[in-house]
Amino acid sequence: IRSVVLGCGSYLPERVLTNAELAQRIDTSDDWIVQRTGISERHIAADDEFTSHLAINAARAALADAKIDAQSIDLIVLATSTPDNTFPATAVAVQHALGINHGVAFDLQAVCSGFVFALTTADNFLRAGHHKRALVIGAETFSRILDWNDRGTCVLFGDGAGAVVLEAQQQSGTTDDRGVLTTHLRSDGRHKSKLFVDGGPGSTKTVGYLRMEGREVFKHAVGMITDVIVDAFNATGFTADDINWFIPHQANKRIIDASAHKLHIAPQKVVLTVDKHGNTSAASIPLALSVAVKDGRVKKGDLVLFEAMGGGFTWGSALVRW
Ligand code: ACO
Repeated sequence: IRSVVLGCGSYLPERVLTNAELAQRIDTSDDWIVQRTGISERHIAADDEFTSHLAINAARAALADAKIDAQSIDLIVLATSTPDNTFPATAVAVQHALGINHGVAFDLQAVCSGFVFALTTADNFLRAGHHKRALVIGAETFSRILDWNDRGTCVLFGDGAGAVVLEAQQQSGTTDDRGVLTTHLRSDGRHKSKLFVDGGPGSTKTVGYLRMEGREVFKHAVGMITDVIVDAFNATGFTADDINWFIPHQANKRIIDASAHKLHIAPQKVVLTVDKHGNTSAASIPLALSVAVKDGRVKKGDLVLFEAMGGGFTWGSALVRW
């Protein structure tokens, strides 16, 4: 059994916040942000727009793209670090909004690696034979956990959501199959202090703010990313030349460029949306994927490589034949 992608979709809040606007509020500049990160603008959710709303819109777009009825979905895995409430899971709100009350829906928390972790989880559930069709969603409103006075972090992130629909299909079991071919996940809690939110029930009992040692994160990112991609190559026998599209987590253009360079992935195969979206954490990969599918770059049969790294640290890769 393979988990084949039937469709994908995404959603961005209407409001666009440019670097120039940020420069009016804090001591920064468009030049600094673009040079250090590649980010020009990001979308910010409205006051009454929560992670579930973004997720529901992305899920509906993915279901429409897949041309399937929501009732055929029996598994929803939603990756987020910015749930509507501490509990219940935001996934359950999505399930309810889609009119589904069978099957299972749950959240998964792996920060920026959330989408790769959720895709891997759904793939394993489908291949185990217990579920038939899954919605895998990455949805975030990081604007709510940013310290808007900290110029080292608030310029980096944005809000948004993306989703894919997976279906369990009988396949030949070779790397010619469509669907998820291999996934590799890692985590290492030693790095907590480099990237964390300083709130929560176990500390301040408030939501808290994102805290980051940016240079430290940068130092570890490229090595971790390339390690799990080498794992994907070793598991399948593919090399960088075989990859049609590299769709990395969109944290920072410099991290993406350095990873692609180290792996010998040609720059024209790299899908970049960080300029327009900023870092949308678990939503960044399905958002970038949706852009590249809609504009016709990603086509049926293409080999698509995903990777992500984020808080925890967590990191992972997934290789999918579209
Ligand atoms: N505008 C202007 N100056 C700034 C800003 C800003 N927005 N932010 C920081 N600075 C200043 C600092 O205060 C510092 O000034 P100083 O030299 O007078 O002390 C100077 O710029 C250099 O700061 P650094 O933090 O060393 O700058 P660096 O080149 O490392 O860039 C950045 C910072 C962009 C955060 C970078 O470290 C980075 O991208 N790290 C990766 C972090 C990341 O992407 N995290 C996302 C979550 S994890 C993931 O998704 C992979």
